[in-house]
Amino acid sequence: MRALARLAVTTVLVAAPIAAVTVTTVASAADDPAPVTVLTSTFEDGTVQGWTGRNAEVLANSTTVAHGGTHSLSVTGRTATWNGPSLDVLGTFEKGTSYTISAWVRMADGTDNARLSVERRSGDTASYDTVVGNTAVSNGNWVNLVGHYTLAADVDFLHVYVETASTTGSLYLDDVAISYVPALPIQTDIPSVKDVVTNFPVGAAITGAETVTLHGDLLAMHFNSVTPGNALKWDATEPSENTFTYTQADPLIAYAKAHNMKVRGHTLVWHNQTPSWVFTRADGTAMTGTAADKTLLLSRLENHIRNVAAHYGTTIGTWDVVNEVIDENQSDGLRRSSWYNVTGLDYIRTAFRVAREVAPGAKLCINDYNTNVAAKRDKLYALVSQLKGEGVPIDCVGHQMHINVSWPSMADTEAMIQKFVPLGVEQQITEMDVSIYTNSGESFPTPPADRLLQQAYVYRDMFALFRKYASAITSVTLWGLADDNTWLDTYPVARKDAPLLFDTRLQAKSAYWGVVDPTKIGTTTSPTVSSSPTTSTSPTTSTSPTTSTSPTTSTSPTTSTSPTTSTSPTSGTGACAVTYRVTGNWPGGFQGDVKIANTGAGAISGWKLAWSFAGGQTIAQLWNGSVSQSGTAVTVTNASWNGSIAAGGSQSFGFLGSYTGSNPVPAAFTLNGTTCTVL
Ligand code: XIL
Repeated sequence: MRALARLAVTTVLVAAPIAAVTVTTVASAADDPAPVTVLTSTFEDGTVQGWTGRNAEVLANSTTVAHGGTHSLSVTGRTATWNGPSLDVLGTFEKGTSYTISAWVRMADGTDNARLSVERRSGDTASYDTVVGNTAVSNGNWVNLVGHYTLAADVDFLHVYVETASTTGSLYLDDVAISYVPALPIQTDIPSVKDVVTNFPVGAAITGAETVTLHGDLLAMHFNSVTPGNALKWDATEPSENTFTYTQADPLIAYAKAHNMKVRGHTLVWHNQTPSWVFTRADGTAMTGTAADKTLLLSRLENHIRNVAAHYGTTIGTWDVVNEVIDENQSDGLRRSSWYNVTGLDYIRTAFRVAREVAPGAKLCINDYNTNVAAKRDKLYALVSQLKGEGVPIDCVGHQMHINVSWPSMADTEAMIQKFVPLGVEQQITEMDVSIYTNSGESFPTPPADRLLQQAYVYRDMFALFRKYASAITSVTLWGLADDNTWLDTYPVARKDAPLLFDTRLQAKSAYWGVVDPTKIGTTTSPTVSSSPTTSTSPTTSTSPTTSTSPTTSTSPTTSTSPTTSTSPTSGTGACAVTYRVTGNWPGGFQGDVKIANTGAGAISGWKLAWSFAGGQTIAQLWNGSVSQSGTAVTVTNASWNGSIAAGGSQSFGFLGSYTGSNPVPAAFTLNGTTCTVL
């Protein structure tokens, strides 16, 4: 056992699924050292190799089916979905190291969704972390669950386990492997970002994993502000009514305090990551917007802010009071969230009023994404002007800035900042990351060198712009510390992204030099960059290829923490296969992701996918395609850049939808008139 003392400390961690169904290579460059495997279970020795049931289920070595070799582990007698094979990894996992966990799963009969998770306990407190979310499994083939897990604090119980979403069917497990890539020391001979960029605090979004060992050293060296990425959201701080828990956030805030860092509190009110009880009446029915509903919801909101903001007092200098309240497609510009549907604009008024009362010294922000898009920007401007006119205490506009290597233009970004200057509000860049992808159809196992260069120029140009407007911009935060832990690995699709200043092994990228010293762009010896043999872009002579066009559609970066997935297999022609996933869910709304695979022999040029929604769902917004909907019938046509699907290839699109009642998965799809297999 290493570094795992019995300590009654709070644990925080990061768990990020990197792929489902197929094995995905974790982005590591060709000259990275080979991963070190710390544990394997192949079951070839005829035993259960230390695996136990989580309840009374029966585990046995089996030769009925096997993924590799001739043996696997069979799990029978499950009586609840949470029952499943479980392995003690307390002595295997070292704090602060990102482990890749890979396991192969197969049902004995029928279909379900399987999850790979970790249970950890400190004292009497148990926590359950999803490493790989719901992934379709069946009795027909083996499915690989693979994801990352980093333990951020000492625990006294740590088990990896597999469970299912809906049924208690028997299942098989095989070829489990846990590995890590050995860490590199952080570079201490390079300038500190916060010492170079002195116009405003420079921050990073963090989980517990960013505050320990090498990550903690890197964070403290370069940043003087932090934003807990999830720990202050409603589902973390008030999971059930009037029960406040700060076990996730407190250690992060304590770390910031100890290192003299500013803290951005994110976020008091959002439509995602908010438990459903908030919008549920005492009798268990959903609020509809009656006067009584409104009174109850506003009192819950007030109680929430009073408790959370008071708990942190002056330690949190800035709050994202409300997050993502704008919908530029509504004529009044207001997102039809449950908050809005029940209270109109009053939830925003109440949130700011109470936040000011409880945290009178804190800067209070309204935060949103895609504020560089003219329509969104203007709707946000109109709302802030109106509310400020009413005396609502809004101090600050937060621009999330989830952007990519070719979008948005510098001109649009400058217009975004200029727009709010006359309002006299502070402006903060709150969640910046620069994806290497320009649409959700792309996926690279290793970041291509040309994309990393483009990214460096984007960082260079954007930071130059922020410094030019230093009198308006009072904080710039990146949505993560290093590429080994970024939400973009699973959003909008599962693929390895590299959107930050430091690579997966914590080494400075060209992006870092774009911020710190642009003359050094392209000179980095970071393994992530040097190994990519892809393009002919000359790092030394290139002119900025950056941000002059706006070729991509803007996509909603909002997500929900509870991905739900279900499938209904049907037979098809074999020429196409469709994977439809509900990737986010909140009261009355959901986010979907659809993948079309060309399983035929020839290429597809131009596609039209049609289906029918059985639950009366309506698509509100769609990216990487164009949608038309008539009643229940939906047709999605390719966008200009993703019409071709090579034989064996695939394209994807995503959307936001609304529904009332249930949200069943469509049972059948046709592609250009031909029925597809549903996966
Ligand atoms: C993201 C987190 O980074 C993820 O870990 C989580 O699963 C979903 O939310 N806009 C926001 C942030 O305001 O709260 C979101 O954070 C990213 C988009």
